[in-house]
Amino acid sequence: MASLSSNDFNEDNYYLGSDDFFTAQRDNALTYDDVSLATNYTEILPRNASLATSLSDRLKLNLPILSSDMDTVTEYQMAIHMALSGGMGIIHYNMPYREQVSQVTRVKYHINGLLPNPITIPDHLMIGDVLSLIEEKGYKFRTFPVVDETKRLAGLLSSRVVKERYSGLAVKDAMDSIEQVHTMNQKDVLHDPITVADAFFSKHIGINKLLVVDDDRFLKGIVSLSDIERINAESQSVLKPARDSDFRLVVGAAISAIRKPDGTLDHDAIAKHVGNLVTEKVDAVAVSTAHGHSAGVGETVKFVRSQFPDLTIIAGNVTSASGVEYLADCGANAIKIGQGPGSICTTRIVAGVGIPQLTALYVASQGAKKKGVRIIADGGITKSGDMVKALTLSDAVILGGMLAGCREAPGELIEINGKLYKSYRGMGSLSAMEKGSASRYGQDKKDTTRKLTAEGIEGMKEVQGTVAETLAPMAGGIQAGMGYLGAATVPELKRKARFVRISGAGMVESAPHDVIEVSKRG
Ligand code: XMP
Repeated sequence: MASLSSNDFNEDNYYLGSDDFFTAQRDNALTYDDVSLATNYTEILPRNASLATSLSDRLKLNLPILSSDMDTVTEYQMAIHMALSGGMGIIHYNMPYREQVSQVTRVKYHINGLLPNPITIPDHLMIGDVLSLIEEKGYKFRTFPVVDETKRLAGLLSSRVVKERYSGLAVKDAMDSIEQVHTMNQKDVLHDPITVADAFFSKHIGINKLLVVDDDRFLKGIVSLSDIERINAESQSVLKPARDSDFRLVVGAAISAIRKPDGTLDHDAIAKHVGNLVTEKVDAVAVSTAHGHSAGVGETVKFVRSQFPDLTIIAGNVTSASGVEYLADCGANAIKIGQGPGSICTTRIVAGVGIPQLTALYVASQGAKKKGVRIIADGGITKSGDMVKALTLSDAVILGGMLAGCREAPGELIEINGKLYKSYRGMGSLSAMEKGSASRYGQDKKDTTRKLTAEGIEGMKEVQGTVAETLAPMAGGIQAGMGYLGAATVPELKRKARFVRISGAGMVESAPHDVIEVSKRG
């Protein structure tokens, strides 16, 4: 047999781009550990690689990582810390609707530069009324601008008087009056609120709130010293927070296809719930189900799109190009890809359905290219290398298990033999479905004639530190991958990626071997 001379050798026949590689592998459905990425010539230093991505033309993130809308992963604390690290949390829907809306409010009011349209209280209230309002709405702050009957600024109610012992006092008598508080005209602030406020607080020692008004004394915003200090600290950090155009942290909320007793979609209930989320400035809603390529999900997405033309809609899950195209046609901006790869999933065992994740991402990416929508790799990610591989085909990744042990994840700490754990369960596990997520799996928790069939398990994760501590090495890992591939941006990763199939022996070689490990891997 004639051998190839070195002049005829073409490296690109060995390390293939995604189209050639996945077409050649069409008989094998592949997942992360089945492939490795070939390096390219690079001029990119990892620390300079940009991790910015977008889930729609309006919703930009500084880190392509979302926390999963699971009841053991994302509530408001997780969402706050995801956004502070540059990503986004999607708050789950296994809770009353009002509670979910109030969790979104907590994220949006976490830290702001200039907070536009702050919550005000009328001057005819008593301190006791204010305390009830704080309790009811779950506000984390206790200082309120006060307005008179014409809605003009009348003063500032300081947190030092918003106390049970002063319940019987009138707000009018307890507040600092307009003559005593510091205000600035919006004309002098709006061009650069952070710098102006920073200079203001340096000059006015002991003052920690700046009220911004218009020419007619209508309140236009409020700036807090603590926010300015944290924002200044953030600007030094590697992971930049993801914020909306009003400088609020971004947050998503999962919604379900709410149905009437006769099984048809309850349009009024969906419009009311999503409307409340939008009023609180939610950045995206996610129509989260196990089977997104279905009439019910499509109808829900279409309806939400018709009512909220500018809202970013995430929908899923699918593992086909046709599924992506269907949801894109219904109006979704970003589509979740993954059926059965998750660490707590049993869909493939129970239903015999699902596609190993990398093949699913490739096939889905073809639908996304055709329709100009984003796709998100959901489930099965256990290390930063998986994220790099996922991002060669998608725009962001979703993490469940990797974040469930973080301090900011919901749930009690469980101590076993001196180690701390948190519960982590599939949304298709029996206990989660009984709490409300059954519809996500096309089942009805009130149906007593059939038993719910679980498609997920209940487990535990060891408590592992904070979200920031977990995400920082992941971000570094993604940037390292981008450096090796010569990709300055996430979209460039897609264009530059060249894949090889690795054998079992290749995988053993890929992880540390033949040593006794004394340090923990990042
Ligand atoms: P990881 O691997 O990050 O996966 O823990 C999280 C993702 O798994 C999905 N999910 C489920 N899939 N049965 C399933 O088949 C379940 O009970 C279940 N609960 C969550 C979901 O997409 C999540 O983001």
